[in-house]
Amino acid sequence: MKENIALIGLMGSGKTTIGRHLLEVLDMNFVDIDKVIEERELKTIPQIFEELGEEYFRKIEAKVIAEESAKNNLIISTGGGCVLNPVNLENLKKKSYIIFLDPDSECILERVKFGKNRPLLNNIENLLEKINELDKERRKLYESVADLQIKMKKESQIIDVIDLIKKSYINS
Ligand code: S3P
Repeated sequence: MKENIALIGLMGSGKTTIGRHLLEVLDMNFVDIDKVIEERELKTIPQIFEELGEEYFRKIEAKVIAEESAKNNLIISTGGGCVLNPVNLENLKKKSYIIFLDPDSECILERVKFGKNRPLLNNIENLLEKINELDKERRKLYESVADLQIKMKKESQIIDVIDLIKKSYINS
C-alpha cells in the first residue's frame, strides 16, 4: 500500500469533495494543491493567472506538488492541469496511489457552470465544448498514470465512490 492517495481528473471531477469525504473514512490528512498555492502567493488562482500568467502558476504548482507528494499519510487533491507536466506525474507516482476521477462531461458541466474560480473556463461561451476539448487533450495522461479509474454518472452515489476507493486502496 502506498503512503498517499492522489486524486487527479478534470476541473469539476470532484477531487476536493471526494478528498474531504475520504478523510472521514481513512485516518489520513488532506491537502488541496490549489489552496496551498493560494496561501503561498496570497492571491486567488484567477488572480495568479491574470497578474502573473499561467506559466508562473504551473511553476509554483510543480514546486508545491514536489513538496507535498514527498510527505506521508496524505490525500492529495491536485489541479486538473497538473498532468501536463511529466515531472508532476513522476513525483506523484513515487508515494501515491493515483485515482483518476472520471465523471461524464454532463456531470462536470453541472459542477463548473456557476463557478468563477477557474480561469481556464471564464468567458467561455460553450462550456461543454471546452470540457470535451480538455478531456481529449488530457484523458490519455490521466489514464497513463492512474492506479484506479472511477467512471461516474449523474446517478452515482458519493458513498459508493468513497467505499470503492477505500477498498481498492487498502487492498493495493
Ligand atoms: C486547472 C485546474 C484548476 C486550477 C487551475 C488550472 C486546469 O484546479 O489548478 O485553474 O488546468 O485544469 P481544479 O481542477 O481543482 O479546478
